Amino acid sequence: MARILLCTSASAALYKACDLASQLAQAGHDVPVLLTPSAAQLVSPQQFEAVTGQPARVHELGEDRLGAMDHIDFARGLAAVVVAPCTAALAGRIAMGLATDLVTTTLMAVPLGVPRLVCPAMNPHMLAQPAVARNLAQMVEDGWERMEPEVGHMACGEDGPGRLADPDLIAQRLLEILGA
Ligand SMILES: Cc1cc2nc3c(=O)[nH]c(=O)nc-3n(C[C@H](O)[C@H](O)[C@H](O)COP(=O)(O)O)c2cc1C
Repeated sequence: MARILLCTSASAALYKACDLASQLAQAGHDVPVLLTPSAAQLVSPQQFEAVTGQPARVHELGEDRLGAMDHIDFARGLAAVVVAPCTAALAGRIAMGLATDLVTTTLMAVPLGVPRLVCPAMNPHMLAQPAVARNLAQMVEDGWERMEPEVGHMACGEDGPGRLADPDLIAQRLLEILGA
């Protein structure tokens, strides 16, 4: 059994991350989940907790969190990290090292050497923006493996590259990484 941190962000493909979390949990792994505050407006953290039996968190600060340091706790003992789906906004924060929420603060605290997989999902025009391409390329340069988004019909009504990679393929790739 391995501990795989799943970080999510506010994409139309977020619901697919529930399937990914479920698959990894059913394969016997610990799958703590972190959501950006925007992601938590699209899908409840409780949905992730229901399929993983693990904590799913959004905020680190608050009166009920006195003494807690979730960004350190979630970053410890990991066999792998996956960001799925990764929005344009989150890719920008990660590429720049901006630790502005629990997802990004935790990612900054993950020890170097832990395998990390990023699965972008966004509108084709967003994906084609030089700034977004630059941020994703920076992540790859910093050691992230990039899972290519699929080409197809998007929730926004457009067609092109930008659909989140199939959760089956993401899970398969993570299990390969763990086996390597
Ligand atoms: C319904 C909905 C779907 C969205 N889907 C995407 C998406 O697939 N990719 C993306 O980069 N942004 C998408 N956005 C915009 C992001 O939610 C927005 O940039 C947000 O600030 C991202 O915050 P986060 O990265 O902290 O989760 C979507 C917004 C809404 C309301």
